[in-house]
Amino acid sequence: MKVGIILGSLRKESFSKKVASNVASLFPKGFETEFVEIGNLPLFNQDYEGDLGTPSIYTEFRNKIKGLDAVLFVTPEYNRSVPAVLKNALDVASRPYGESAWSGKPAAIISISPGALSGFGANHHLRQILAFLNMPVVQQPEAYIGNVHELLDEEGKLTNEGTVQFLQTFVDTFVDLIQRNK
Ligand code: FNR
Repeated sequence: MKVGIILGSLRKESFSKKVASNVASLFPKGFETEFVEIGNLPLFNQDYEGDLGTPSIYTEFRNKIKGLDAVLFVTPEYNRSVPAVLKNALDVASRPYGESAWSGKPAAIISISPGALSGFGANHHLRQILAFLNMPVVQQPEAYIGNVHELLDEEGKLTNEGTVQFLQTFVDTFVDLIQRNK
C-alpha cells in the first residue's frame, strides 16, 4: 500500500514535515510512505485547460496521486485556513472536470501549530474540501498538534510518549480505513 504524504508547508525546517516524518514511521509492514512534492506546481489557471495547454508537471502530479492508495495531509494553518500551496495542489489534481485524481482515495488530516489552537481552522476547512473531493477521511480521532515546537527535539523527533501513542492510534485508524476502502 502506498500512502502519499502531502505537506501544507514548503519551509525547510517545517514542523509539519518533522511531525509527518515521525508519523511515517508508525505505519505497519506492507505500507510504504512517500512525500509528494507540491511546491513546484504553477498556480492553477483554467487557461491551462484551453489555449495554454496542460503543463507536463500537472500531468506528472495527477498521475502520482492516481498511483497512491491513500493520502495523509499534514498542514499548518495560515490565517485560519489551508495554506495556498496546499489548496493549489488540491485544485490541480481535481481537474479536468470529472477526472479528479482524489476521488475515492482514503485520507487523513493532521494539523499542527506552535499555537494552542492547533490549526483547527485549517483542519476543518481541509475536511470541507476533501468532502467535496469525495475522499473518505478519518473522522475520529481528530489530530490537532498544538504547541508543536515544544514536542520536538533537536533532531526533529517527537519526545512526548503520549503524543506518539496518540499518533499510533491515529495511524491504526487510518490503516483500517484504507483497508476497508481497498
Ligand atoms: C501563520 N501561522 C499561523 N498559526 C496558526 O495557528 N494560525 C494561523 O492562522 C496562522 N497564520 C499564519 C499565516 C501565515 C502567512 C504564516 C506564515 C504563519 C503560524 C504557523 O502556524 C507557523 O509559522 C508554523 O510553524 C508553520 O508551519 P510549518 O512551516 O512549521 O510546517
